[in-house]
Amino acid sequence: MAGRIQPGPEIIRTGTELRSMPLLPEIRLHQAGDPISMWQQTEQAAGRDVLDPPFWAFPWAGGQALARYLLDHPEAVRGRRVIDVASGSGLVAIAAARAGAGAVTAYDIDPLAVAAIGVNAAANGVTVRAVGADILDGDGPPPPGADLVLVADAFYERDLAGQVTAFLDRCQARGTGVLVGDLGRRYLPYSRLTALASYDVPGLGALESRDVVRTTVWTLSGPSAPA
Ligand SMILES: C[S@@+](CC[C@H](N)C(=O)[O-])C[C@H]1O[C@@H](n2cnc3c(N)ncnc32)[C@H](O)[C@@H]1O
Repeated sequence: MAGRIQPGPEIIRTGTELRSMPLLPEIRLHQAGDPISMWQQTEQAAGRDVLDPPFWAFPWAGGQALARYLLDHPEAVRGRRVIDVASGSGLVAIAAARAGAGAVTAYDIDPLAVAAIGVNAAANGVTVRAVGADILDGDGPPPPGADLVLVADAFYERDLAGQVTAFLDRCQARGTGVLVGDLGRRYLPYSRLTALASYDVPGLGALESRDVVRTTVWTLSGPSAPA
């Protein structure tokens, strides 16, 4: 009888392959080949069928663009205390650490993502503190001591996008810098964002409707206009 995949971090190694991305040859991540079969494996290993998709097993377009931007513009993060929200695989956090950030903390609500961030950071020889907490919940301030908030590909659901936008507003009000990577998901708050750079991100055929997707790095422009 075939051995049952154990839930937890083991699936990160058994269900993925450690490899780089065409846009990011400097970084290697544990990546799955196909989202649906990886999702099924994760649910089978956990013994239930209501798990979140394995976002952590893929480098999303927004994350790839933002990671490329940080590696090409290390001055954006050098020496700064950085947080990466909705970190998934930890790609953006790893890029920030490689670019010389003073300290990097990555947040995700999925425990497997938290484990993947640790495994991926180690594979790249960088230190990232991975935290399983929902810092978007409620109306609290950003964690103390953060100079820069990074968020990539987190505007794909209305509620989440609203929480992210409100969180970024609170960060900006406290003088914390904000950088966003996104391909233009449905709930991206375009009117609040200023484009800094765009990249053609290849190799996305398993995740998006096309293989190469133009993806932009943005900064937050100003406070929301009153309704
Ligand atoms: C599409 S993935 C993006 C991952 C990564 N930033 C990238 O670009 O590759 C979205 C991630 O957001 C996480 N997420 C969803 N809601 C969250 C929340 N309230 N706080 C933190 N992370 C959250 C999911 O678990 C998932 O890992």
